[in-house]
Amino acid sequence: MDARAARAARAALDGPFDPWSPAFVADPYPAYAALRAAGRVHYYEPSDQYLIPHHADVAALLRDRRLGRTYLHRYSHEEFGRPAPPPEHEPFHVLNDNGMLDLEAPAHTRIRRLVAKAFTPRTVERLRPYVEGLADELVRGLVADGGGDLVARVAEPLPVAVIAEMLGIPEADRGSLRPWSADICGMYELNPGEETAARAVRASVEFSAYLRELIAARRKEPGEDLISALIAAYDENEEVRPEGPLWKGGGGRRAGRLSEQEMISTCVLLLNAGHEATVNSTANGWNALFSHPEQLAALRAEPERLLPTAVEELLRFDTPLQLFERWVLDDIEVGGARIPRGSEVALLFGSANRDPAAFAAPDTLDLARADNPHISFSAGIHYCIGAPLARIELAASLGALLRRAPDLRLAAEPTRKQNFVIRGLGELLVEC
Ligand code: HEM
Repeated sequence: MDARAARAARAALDGPFDPWSPAFVADPYPAYAALRAAGRVHYYEPSDQYLIPHHADVAALLRDRRLGRTYLHRYSHEEFGRPAPPPEHEPFHVLNDNGMLDLEAPAHTRIRRLVAKAFTPRTVERLRPYVEGLADELVRGLVADGGGDLVARVAEPLPVAVIAEMLGIPEADRGSLRPWSADICGMYELNPGEETAARAVRASVEFSAYLRELIAARRKEPGEDLISALIAAYDENEEVRPEGPLWKGGGGRRAGRLSEQEMISTCVLLLNAGHEATVNSTANGWNALFSHPEQLAALRAEPERLLPTAVEELLRFDTPLQLFERWVLDDIEVGGARIPRGSEVALLFGSANRDPAAFAAPDTLDLARADNPHISFSAGIHYCIGAPLARIELAASLGALLRRAPDLRLAAEPTRKQNFVIRGLGELLVEC
């Protein structure tokens, strides 16, 4: 445990927010209720962040252009009063900081516009038969074996296959995607230690090298996939800035289009974001259903009617992404508290989704809930580009499991991963 984590462990004893405690990770919702009751802003020393637990504040700050996922489009590290990342972390930052999720306008707008074409509701709707067929096949396999681990057999392979197929990742290479993604995503937890950083750096180097090679191959022999489409956009334009890490002032942008680094970063972002949250939503969702048998019975009785609202309610009730950060680029005020430029806010999505000011009976799982302004896909310019696809995937696996495994039940107590930000189950053993 490094010094920060040790301080965190100590400070945790004093307050309800305790992201390093297994009990908190297992059920953070009572602590969120205490935070909401205690105020709109809480400075949390262990991660040096301002925690924002209320729905209205989270929703407003996500749309507020005085905040950003990065500050490097406006300030240097020195100007912003933040240390530059250590040089040995550079491969991770080059990869991460050139993906659209960690860019702001104008780079974000330029890249998002290109990628968005592949993710419009109409475009992804065409994938529905493929996604449903795959979900059905995976569930049939689980049922034929009398059960197994729902995470490994259904929740994981479905979104991994779908996003890999969209990008044109050959089947033989797909086994590496999950471990690379898990190692990179370790950096999104609060105060990652050196070991986590070393794993993320190694995965970033390997994943980037793999994609560089794949992009070269697709350039020679284009296919119908998203990588080939991004290459076509890349090749259309002239280079206007040198290649180099964004946090060193580079970024290798091309006028109106993508640099090679942005292309690699965007592919990694799509491959990682394209499955991590869906895996955890599926597992958290079934965990919630098993602990609310009357709701599961109602869903089984009327799947056609309840499926659309059930998907939204499961996303709200136990959201897979608990916290998102923003840098404060200009001073802001929340609930009378001034948060100065250079600070970081931690938007508590899990808490916002249980705020009684936004939801009637927020701690009740109500699969028929019609008025459900959950924030699980975020809001503002970084609103999840994959939301329409995620909804299709979640409905497909839920539908297939309801249909083909009408007696699906828990076979053992679920095991939880100890991550808080990207929160989900390690194993969910079921019997059919
Ligand atoms: C249940 C599943 C999913 C959830 C809960 C989820 C949630 C989110 C959230 C909360 C953000 C914004 C983070 C922020 O505001 O800081 C986001 C962004 C993003 N998501 Fe998702 N996501 C899911 C599935 C997917 C899928 C299937 C894909 C891709 C195929 C995807 C691709 C992305 C991308 C590329 C971004 C960055 C958008 C931008 O910065 O403009 N996500 N997602």
